[in-house]
Amino acid sequence: MKLHKSAFPGWRILVRHVLFAVLGGLFVMPAYADAGRERLSLDRGWLFHLGDVPFHVPATQDETYYATKAGMASGAAAVKFDDTAWRKLDLPHDWQVEQPFDPKANMAQGFRPRGIGWYRRYIALPESDRGRHVELEFGAIATHATVWVNGNLVNHNWSGYNEVRIDITPYLHYGDRHANVIAVRVDADAMEGWWYEGAGMYRHTWLVKTDAVHVVPDGVRVTPREVAAGNWEIPATVTLDNDGKQEARVDVEMVVTGPDGKQVARRSTSIAVPVLTQVTASLPMAIRRPARWSLDRTTLYHVTTTVRRDGKVVDRLALDTGFRTLRFDAAKGFFLNGEHVKLQGVCLHQDHAGVGVAVPTSIWAFRLRRLKELGVNAIRFSHNAIASEVLDLADRMGFLVMAENRNFNPSPDYMKQFEWMLKRDRHHPSVILWSVFNEEPVQATEAGYEMARRMVAVAKALDGTRPTTAAMSNGLLTPLNVSHAVDVVGANYQIPEYDKFHAARPDKPFTSSEDTSAFMTRGEFATDKARHIETSYDTEAPAWGNTHRDAWQAIGTRDFVAGGFVWTGFDYHGESWPYASWPSVSSFFGIMDLNGFPKTAYYMHQVQWIKDRPLIYIAPHWNWAGKEGQEIVVRVMSNAERVKLLLNGREIGEQKVDHYRMNDFKVKYEPGKLDAIAYTGGKEVARTSVETTGPAVALELVPDRGMLNGDGDDAMPITVRALDAQGRAVPIANDEVTFETAGAGKSIGHGNGDPNSHEDEKGRTRRLFNGLAQLLVQSNWASSGSIEVDASAPGLRAAHLTIPVRAAAPVAYVPAGAPPVDDKP
Ligand code: GAL
Repeated sequence: MKLHKSAFPGWRILVRHVLFAVLGGLFVMPAYADAGRERLSLDRGWLFHLGDVPFHVPATQDETYYATKAGMASGAAAVKFDDTAWRKLDLPHDWQVEQPFDPKANMAQGFRPRGIGWYRRYIALPESDRGRHVELEFGAIATHATVWVNGNLVNHNWSGYNEVRIDITPYLHYGDRHANVIAVRVDADAMEGWWYEGAGMYRHTWLVKTDAVHVVPDGVRVTPREVAAGNWEIPATVTLDNDGKQEARVDVEMVVTGPDGKQVARRSTSIAVPVLTQVTASLPMAIRRPARWSLDRTTLYHVTTTVRRDGKVVDRLALDTGFRTLRFDAAKGFFLNGEHVKLQGVCLHQDHAGVGVAVPTSIWAFRLRRLKELGVNAIRFSHNAIASEVLDLADRMGFLVMAENRNFNPSPDYMKQFEWMLKRDRHHPSVILWSVFNEEPVQATEAGYEMARRMVAVAKALDGTRPTTAAMSNGLLTPLNVSHAVDVVGANYQIPEYDKFHAARPDKPFTSSEDTSAFMTRGEFATDKARHIETSYDTEAPAWGNTHRDAWQAIGTRDFVAGGFVWTGFDYHGESWPYASWPSVSSFFGIMDLNGFPKTAYYMHQVQWIKDRPLIYIAPHWNWAGKEGQEIVVRVMSNAERVKLLLNGREIGEQKVDHYRMNDFKVKYEPGKLDAIAYTGGKEVARTSVETTGPAVALELVPDRGMLNGDGDDAMPITVRALDAQGRAVPIANDEVTFETAGAGKSIGHGNGDPNSHEDEKGRTRRLFNGLAQLLVQSNWASSGSIEVDASAPGLRAAHLTIPVRAAAPVAYVPAGAPPVDDKP
């Protein structure tokens, strides 16, 4: 094995150290440096190797003896390992989305190989960090991960969805000559799901530095509850630890401030923190008439926890919470702050076109905005914990969240995963339900009941302010099943069982936890099984599911059903039902496609779910050359009372709106213009039209937002479409577009919503699919100026777009150090 010393002459390393020290000094701006706590991004400067690296098999007695000692890990986990040829990259990173599609790879995971990969990163810590407490915080790693620090194995993690928090203090070296090595082996052949799971370190990573006396990870418990009308309490606790060599007495203070910045509650207490021992301080607080958090007014309160030792601040952290009441009524459904809310929900997986599961937070904000516009008020993050940044968005944007546990297993290792989710997420006002599982074969057995009972007990102990549920796919009416262990029964599909269940158990709150699973290909209006295409008229659903209209009709007409969660809000990679076979590589279930472009289902649900403004839509498009004189079903979707349809100014018909089925008109095709008009109370309230377009002559790039922040994280989707000579978008254009990006950012991927497309999601070209494609661009780190995007296609006028990039304070980060200079620190 080549050692670093031979690969890097000392002077080169020194130059790198000086450079990193200078850059580090410039850019590291710790948020809580004054208060002892720093949370620094570790995302930049990793080295990556795709494939496994064998561990060294010792041969002699001596070699074996030493190989088994602390700090002596071999292979790519070793401190000294030649990683100079490894690829340099920044996190979040999903290597699966970079792989070519392969008919021999697993279908459920999207026909792409996953495999094993390694990451390494160097960090240098200044002498002044000696005596502090240092933790690694990895948002999540797909899927099985092993972590070493300086050759010590410090963590095995067996879930691709939970955070990895590791106290690495005892293994660290300080000073410029002794960089520390983090090595992570990721086994993504392991699967926890039957959908696309991605591969690698796909969420954000942090290095947390605190005082020796510090609050432990997720150690602040804030779960507000109303004890009497207008009287709220937060039975807050703070758990501390002490790496120091002497017991410390500290003052712990918690301050709650309202949205106006005014303090509404304050509590402090003094507690002794013995050496290397966790202790929990209690700080119950009472609050009178706080402003409520609701779907339209997402009022958040700020909770700051401060730890002082001899008057000096040694730790400080903050989180947001909100005040709202929840109630599931067995007869009337769900109530938020005493007001009835029907759950208009969607289930979501966590990937997006072009980026796989490494989805920037700003792209999540885009996705949630699309859902808000659709009228969605509830999200089930199925079937796993989501990134904490996404829950912050749900709090701020106003969604009700079913937080779901991945692995149904009350044994200690797995219970830790559930406990972690409860502790991390219990302060979020958006979270209304803890789901212990999705569709488990033991759900209708005594074993399932006993397992669920244990997990529910943990949810009550760690939170107790929210009901528990389980997403059951059968066995609801068997004598002993999981529905007896949870507060709210969640039914996946099984619409014919709804009434039977309610009749048998009229006192048990009930919701659909998953429904629909209907199939649509965006922009297609005829099913063609040979070509793996599904019509968008909402007529295709699997044996276990229902069309969008049937499912919502069943849910919307039953008061005892708290609401529904459509499978799914967006298409996702993998699980390509109804075909579940090559060449289909992503799902057909979405209300929107993999990019967030609407299918017909989007308009159908929007007119059902949005009541405060008049809406009207027409499907399909009106480009049917060759079908002149043939009958075409035109679906008009509206939330008004009546709708009228006209073709080229001639009335086709007028109908009373059917809010569950929608309104279909049979129209003999002739090119031109369809107009649809919505009436309420006899007055026109909305209108829309679709027109036959000419052939595409030009490309257009439509940015989602006006500018990006130059922080290296901010990203946005750009819609790519083709226009005819009159500037109308051509819904049947399928041109292949070539992209160029330059300046203060880059392309991070693209998609077009075709579940059968095998185009490289990271390449320079992408075909329009039924008129649309999407390019994702992201700013460069510490950049400003603009991103210049060019799109061209043979025979079409090219498009150019300038996206301004404004200088933004970059996230404080840990400079990527160089390999250690000294062999033996
Ligand atoms: C459900 C399952 C989902 C998805 C869906 C497809 O049974 O919970 O994860 O597989 O079927 O229809």
